[in-house]
Amino acid sequence: MEPHPRDPGRTAWALPCLLLLALPGVGAQLGQGFSLQQPQTKVSVAAGETVTLNCTTSGIAEPGPVRWLKGWDRGNKTIYDQTTKDPSSRVTRAMNKSKTDFTIHIRNVQPEDTGTYYCVKFVKSDSGVDQVFQRGDGTEVSVLAKPSPPLVSGPEQRAEPGQSVPFTCTTGGFFPKEIGVKWFKNKDPMVAQPPQVTESRVKTYNISSTVMVTLQEDDVRSQLICEVQHPTLLVPLQGRYQLSRVLRVPPSVEVLAEPSPVEVNKTVTFTCLVKKFYPANVSVSWLENGSEIKVENISRPVELPQGLFELRSQVEVQATEEKNGSTIVCVVVHDGRAPASYSAFLWTSNPGQGGLSKGFQMDKGDMLIYIVVGVVCTVLALLVAAILYLIRTKQIKGKSSPSARLHEPEKSSEATTQESDPNNLTYADLNFDKERKTIRRMVEMSQQSEYACIQTNQAPNGDDNLTYADLDMVHLSKAPKRPAPRPEEASSEYASVQITRK
Ligand SMILES: *[C@@H]1O[C@H](CO)[C@@H](O)[C@H](O)[C@H]1NC(C)=O
Ligand SMILES: *[C@@H]1O[C@H](CO)[C@@H](O)[C@H](O)[C@H]1NC(C)=O
Ligand SMILES: *[C@@H]1O[C@H](CO)[C@@H](O)[C@H](O)[C@H]1NC(C)=O
Ligand SMILES: *[C@@H]1O[C@H](CO)[C@@H](O)[C@H](O)[C@H]1NC(C)=O
Ligand SMILES: *[C@@H]1O[C@H](CO)[C@@H](O)[C@H](O)[C@H]1NC(C)=O
Ligand SMILES: *[C@@H]1O[C@H](CO)[C@@H](O)[C@H](O)[C@H]1NC(C)=O
Repeated sequence: MEPHPRDPGRTAWALPCLLLLALPGVGAQLGQGFSLQQPQTKVSVAAGETVTLNCTTSGIAEPGPVRWLKGWDRGNKTIYDQTTKDPSSRVTRAMNKSKTDFTIHIRNVQPEDTGTYYCVKFVKSDSGVDQVFQRGDGTEVSVLAKPSPPLVSGPEQRAEPGQSVPFTCTTGGFFPKEIGVKWFKNKDPMVAQPPQVTESRVKTYNISSTVMVTLQEDDVRSQLICEVQHPTLLVPLQGRYQLSRVLRVPPSVEVLAEPSPVEVNKTVTFTCLVKKFYPANVSVSWLENGSEIKVENISRPVELPQGLFELRSQVEVQATEEKNGSTIVCVVVHDGRAPASYSAFLWTSNPGQGGLSKGFQMDKGDMLIYIVVGVVCTVLALLVAAILYLIRTKQIKGKSSPSARLHEPEKSSEATTQESDPNNLTYADLNFDKERKTIRRMVEMSQQSEYACIQTNQAPNGDDNLTYADLDMVHLSKAPKRPAPRPEEASSEYASVQITRK
């Protein structure tokens, strides 16, 4: 600020003297009060944006242009020259006509524009060559460059579940060098190898990050995500890769023959079930004893919910007698791989045997047997129910008529009673109501009479010892099973009630 008070005077004095500038020797005196300011030391700008580099001068200097140079010494480059006009240049003056403000704008800054810029006042030497008269302190321009959209690349050939394959994420052209790379499989974070950062062009970097992925059968719908975070980004950039691009799930194949065996001269359908494969390109052909069978309907793969495919190819074969034991082969070619064969045999049976011995018809026969058995069982069950019902009704009737009751042996504390009764005998207590011996009872007897025979042990065969009792109804209390009475035991007597239908 020191020169300012003198400035108006000098300017006023200098203006008429401009006419004298051409005269040698005068200019040297004029340059003494000249100064040049370049206030910015560091400027950072995003690539593509415009950067403003300030430069102002004060005082009067000898004639000569003000220029902006990028770099100093060797490798310097003039980016702006007051004396030349280049409309196509990215560099423009902020104040076009000003003789003191040499601020410039640089449009569409690129990473290559990174460097130190100097505002320089030149003066013409005696020989007419521009010489550096004064320069600013320089402004360091750094261009912040966003990384390019990340690209994820995978193996060139498809791989099968269980195989571990590398995926690489690359991005480049960013500045500054600091960058973060994260990997995800669907939403799960993954562990990657340390990224490799390389300097690409001037003041930009490239990065490459690799991750190993073990493929799985259900990866058809999975995707890898490479997420790049950089100071120039508000939201991370993502690169995606569908694992279906590199996945190959070989099919599992099954050949079914129905019906088997088949009756001679009937047709048997062979089904080739090609299950769970990816990608969809599969071809199925059929061979019968080595020669191709023409398939009328070419079935298409069906997509399953998890993204795998399934295909069902069917062929019908006439089961002639000479074809018995023929091999029917289903040849599957998946995704250009080597053909794989799966075979089944054609078995024929004679019409007579076919139905009964084996196969689908045997099931029919079994069904018939089951039906018959079922019907018989139902009839039997109904019979039993009817019998039980009859017994029930009889019991109810018996309650109103004279009865013979069989008692359990009375539970006595006397040991002798139990010893004399080793077989836990049940005895009959036949007490008839004398008043009830009426005609009515006789009538019933005539229709359906039962009698009990009470025998003593001493004379099992003697007819004269038998006592007969006419029983209207015998009520038998349930007693635990016991061994048959043994007649040898003379000390015990037993009674058996036999009911014999006449
Ligand atoms: C740079 O120059 C422009 C245009 O003359 C001006 O508006 C701005 O304030 C200056 N900036 C600095 C830091 O001097
Ligand atoms: C700029 O470079 C040229 C040639 O490379 C050199 O002659 C000149 O002296 C340099 N100028 C400055 C200011 O360093
Ligand atoms: C760096 O990355 C950029 C953009 O992704 C690319 O164009 C360039 O070829 C890469 N350079 C090197 C050396 O890998
Ligand atoms: C099957 O067909 C052939 C030719 O039509 C005939 O000769 C043969 O008797 C048939 N066999 C039976 C078991 O029907
Ligand atoms: C083959 O195609 C015909 C007509 O398009 C159809 O009637 C028949 O059921 C198909 N056969 C099979 C095995 O899909
Ligand atoms: C077909 O071959 C099988 C096995 O050799 C045999 O059991 C069957 O009886 C044969 N069928 C006919 C119709 O000859």
